[in-house]
Amino acid sequence: MVYGGLAMTGTIEGNAGHTGSLPPGPRLPRAAQVLMRLWRFAEFSDGGHARYGDTFTVRLGSLTGVLTRDREAIRRLFTGDPLVKRHGNDLLRTLVGEQSLLMLEPPEHLARRKLLLPPFHGERVQSYARLMEGLVSSELDRLRQGDTVAMQPVAQSLTLEVILQAVLGISDPLLRRRLRGIFDAFNTPLNAFALFVPALTRRSRLNVLSRRPWRLKAELDALLFGHIAASREDERLSEREDILAMMLSARDEHGVGLTDEQLRDELITLIAAGHETTATAIAWGVELLAHNPAIMRKARESDDTYLEALVKEILRIRSPIPIGGVRYLLEPFAIGAWTIPTSVAVVVDGYGVHHDPTVYREPHEFRPERFLQEPPDSYSFLPFGGGAHRCLGASLALLEIKVVLRELLTQLDFAPTSPTVARAVPRGPTLAPRGGARIRVVGRRAPTPAAATTAAAV
Ligand code: HEM
Repeated sequence: MVYGGLAMTGTIEGNAGHTGSLPPGPRLPRAAQVLMRLWRFAEFSDGGHARYGDTFTVRLGSLTGVLTRDREAIRRLFTGDPLVKRHGNDLLRTLVGEQSLLMLEPPEHLARRKLLLPPFHGERVQSYARLMEGLVSSELDRLRQGDTVAMQPVAQSLTLEVILQAVLGISDPLLRRRLRGIFDAFNTPLNAFALFVPALTRRSRLNVLSRRPWRLKAELDALLFGHIAASREDERLSEREDILAMMLSARDEHGVGLTDEQLRDELITLIAAGHETTATAIAWGVELLAHNPAIMRKARESDDTYLEALVKEILRIRSPIPIGGVRYLLEPFAIGAWTIPTSVAVVVDGYGVHHDPTVYREPHEFRPERFLQEPPDSYSFLPFGGGAHRCLGASLALLEIKVVLRELLTQLDFAPTSPTVARAVPRGPTLAPRGGARIRVVGRRAPTPAAATTAAAV
C-alpha cells in the first residue's frame, strides 16, 4: 500500500541493473513532480496521458517509476503477484513495524494473509453494522438545525472508534481514549514527518523533533502489548467477536499462531491503514451528495443495492488513494512497446483508469447507476488496489461508508457551504476534500432512536 505521496519518495531497493526501456515522461524537476503528484494528481495524470499515452515515466524525489493506466499491464501486474512483484511500502516501516503484513515479502506475505483474511470476509464483517449504526447515531445526535460542520473530522473520530472496538475489541473506554490521543498526535505534520523520515531526523539536529513521536510509539507499543496480554488471558475470548480475538486463535498449517510482536504490528497496521482512508471516503460521499440533491433524494428512496452502487461511485470518482498500488519489479516487465527494467517501480494509475472514457462513459459525471447497469471488471475499479496486496479491509470499509451515509441521509437534511465540489488536497495519507466536507444542517428528519428514548422518558 502506498498512501498519499509518502512511499513515492522512497529509495529503490531490489536488484537493479537489468536493462530495459523507459517510456518518455515529463521533464519537470523531480521536486516539482513530487508537488504535482501531491497537490494536483488529476492534472498530473491527465496531462501526462495526453502528452505521452497510457504509460509514462515519472521522477519523484529519489524514485523513478512509470505511471500506467494500461489495464492489460495492470491485470498482468496484479495476477503476477506475489512471485515477481514486491510492495512499495517501505516508508511506513517505522510506524507499522517489521512484522507487519505491509512489510512482508513472498512467501511470508501470502502465509500471513491466509492467517489474517478470515475475519475480514464480506459476510463476517456484516456483524459490525449494528456497532457502526450506534456510533454514527450518537455523533449525529449532537448536530442541530443551522449548525455548520466539517464532516471529515467527525468521520475520522467515528472510523477510529470502529477500529478500536470492532477490530481491536477494546471495551475499556479509558484505553480507547489513550489510543485515540496517540493517533491524533501522530497526525500532526511534524510528528508524521519525523516518523516517516526517521533516518533524517535521527541523524541531524532535527533529532529533537523526533523525540516526541518515538515516545508516542513506545507508549503505543506498551498499551497494545498490555491489551494483547489481557486478551490472551480473557476467559471469554471465544465469545468475543472482534478481529483481534480471531487473530489470537488463528493457526497456520503447522499449528503455530502469531507472536505478540506480530500481533502488535498488525494492530498498528490495521489502525493506520483503516481509519483515515475510510474517513476520507465518507467525507467525499458527504461532499458529493451535498452538491447532488437529485442523487441524495434517490438514495433516500432506494434500497441497499443503490446505496452500494453509490459507495462504489464515490470511490471511483474520488478515490481516497488515487494510485491503485506500487510494485517494485523483481523481473523486467513489458508494458506496451516498453520493457520496464527491474530498478523501476510500476505505479498503477487508479485515477487514470477511473476517468478513462473507454472504461466509464462520461467519467467526470457522478452517476451511481453506472455500477448497476454496467459493473466494471476487477482491473477497472481500483480504489483498493489489487492482486496479492489488495486491501484487506475493503469489505469493512464498504460496509462502514454505506452505514454512515445511510444514517446521515435518514437523520439529517443538509446542504453544501460552497457552490462547487471541493478540490482534492493531501490529508495525511489520502487526497481529501479541501475544507473537510463542510455542510450546513438544514433540519433533522427523524429523531434518532437515542433521542426518541430520551424524549419518551421526559
Ligand atoms: C475506503 C477505505 C480504504 C481504502 C481506499 C483503502 C485502500 C487501500 C489500498 C489502495 C491498498 C494497497 C493495495 C495494493 O497495493 O494493491 C490497501 C492495502 C491495505 N489496506 Fe486498505 N483501504 C481502505 C480501508 C482499509 C481498512 C478499513 C482496513 C482495515 C481495518 C485496511 C487495511 C489494509 C491492509 C492491511 C492493507 C495491506 C494489504 C497487503 O499488503 O497485503 N484498509 N488499502
